[in-house]
Amino acid sequence: MKVVVTGGLGFIGSHTVVELQNQGFEVIAIDNLSNSSITVLDGIEKITGKKPLFENIDLREKSAVQNFFQKHPDVVGIIHFAASKAVGESVENPLLYYENNINALVYVLQELTQLTQANFIFSSSCTVYGQAEKMPITEDASVQPAISPYGNTKQIGEEIIKDAAKVTKINAVLLRYFNPIGAHPTAEIGELPLGVPQNLVPFITQTAMGLRQELSVFGNDYPTPDGTAVRDYIHVVDLAKAHVIALQRLLNQQNAEKVETFNLGTGKGSSVLEVINAFEKVSGQKLPYKMVARREGDITSAYANTDKAREILGWQTELSLEEALASAWKWEQKIRS
Ligand code: WQD
Repeated sequence: MKVVVTGGLGFIGSHTVVELQNQGFEVIAIDNLSNSSITVLDGIEKITGKKPLFENIDLREKSAVQNFFQKHPDVVGIIHFAASKAVGESVENPLLYYENNINALVYVLQELTQLTQANFIFSSSCTVYGQAEKMPITEDASVQPAISPYGNTKQIGEEIIKDAAKVTKINAVLLRYFNPIGAHPTAEIGELPLGVPQNLVPFITQTAMGLRQELSVFGNDYPTPDGTAVRDYIHVVDLAKAHVIALQRLLNQQNAEKVETFNLGTGKGSSVLEVINAFEKVSGQKLPYKMVARREGDITSAYANTDKAREILGWQTELSLEEALASAWKWEQKIRS
């Protein structure tokens, strides 16, 4: 069965392509290479022995999206990762984010409705919750007014999908990721942040490689056990597997509603200092860091209630924070060797 993965050469997209191929799906990866590299195709092939079909398409070009799906009417599902995802950049350049994260989504959904099977998996984010009142966070926690255009595009994206599903044959699953980290254990694919990493773990691994002088810890005055902010760090391979399970649920028409929402996390919160300590343990290296002021827009704490994904999808994470950090470190050493 043929599945389209938009953003298929990206961090989470490429790991999902691997897991789809492992389950026997024929995958077409669509990517405009704005935040990924064509060499990711070789990494995927080294892992699975199969190079996915690849189309270099910018989904903001409506005619290009139409042409693609006219050539592939037998697609049974679309997993949509393609989006810009840097919170800070979205504040400086909101229109880029609304064009890339909303226009492209609408064009893909319009073509999806023409397919025989209109199954759709959407890459969403726990950022929609803002600072949730209650931990761990359940899927019915209120969606807070977005504090960044990036977060707003995820909220708007979810609403667009729900509205479209009401009046078309679209069946969708919205997957709200917590903090994806790590790399494939083979170190053939992983995260390729452009420029100075915004996210914690790639900054840590680059610091450990000597590419960065030291890590700045954004705030140690949070109301948390050690004063640093708490997040739910989920191994990207666990995250990828959840996408395949969600797609199979739609293909088998097991979905209870036209649009279902799941939090994808470990259910465990880890502070920045805990991540640093875990990294030092797995890498055997001391990590240079300093405490600085909080980062604008950061929340204190977010970690997932995993009951719904476990009970309904039959999915839960299998890999630990240490395994995720060890895989990130192995990947960093591989790409710098
Ligand atoms: C994690 C923690 C920082 C860097 C964002 C998006 C989310 C998703 C993941 C896309 C925070 C601290 C970080 C550093 C630090 N994005 N930190 N020093 O902000 O939780 O989530 O990225 O899918 O949607 O909101 O992730 O990795 O940036 O930060 O102290 O150099 O690490 O303050 O507490 P975040 P992050």
